[in-house]
Amino acid sequence: MVEIVGLTKVFKNIKAVDNLSFKAKEGEIYGLLGENGAGKTTTLRMLATMLKPTNGTAIINGKDLIKEPEEIRKEVGILFGGESGLYDRLTARENILYFAELHDMDKKEANKKIDILARKFDMTEFIDRPAGKLSI
Ligand SMILES: Nc1ncnc2c1ncn2[C@@H]1O[C@H](COP(=O)(O)OP(=O)(O)OP(=O)(O)O)[C@@H](O)[C@H]1O
Ligand SMILES: [Mg+2]
Repeated sequence: MVEIVGLTKVFKNIKAVDNLSFKAKEGEIYGLLGENGAGKTTTLRMLATMLKPTNGTAIINGKDLIKEPEEIRKEVGILFGGESGLYDRLTARENILYFAELHDMDKKEANKKIDILARKFDMTEFIDRPAGKLSI
């Protein structure tokens, strides 16, 4: 569950995100729509702990973004559009394993989860192919 409470980000004199609050329940797909410069990317960067909010906070899976950013970083995966941020020469599995390791996940457990998720999302056919060979 993601609950955003009065989230605000000010860059010098630009209020990029102004007192934003919303709730996205577990299992729900939440879309954030807005015109160019509305503050969507800034909001997601704050939720991913890449940017510190000027004000407000978010509760993600019961953890407070301001008080426990390290814990939240372990649970949040984020992929922005454009440059995918994946390592082309690593396979899809190796890309995931790399980030799992950075998050202190046990390698065996990570591999098991990858297999479960690959099956769930019908990705078994290309999970072991280099990311650079996949179409986007
Ligand atoms: N690092 C930054 N420094 C200064 N201003 C910024 C920074 N990042 C974003 N902004 C400004 O904050 C506002 C919100 O930008 P943001 O990128 O979050 O919007 P967006 O909704 O993602 O837009 P788009 O639809 O174009 O992707 C814009 O006015 C932008 O110029
Ligand atoms: Mg954006």
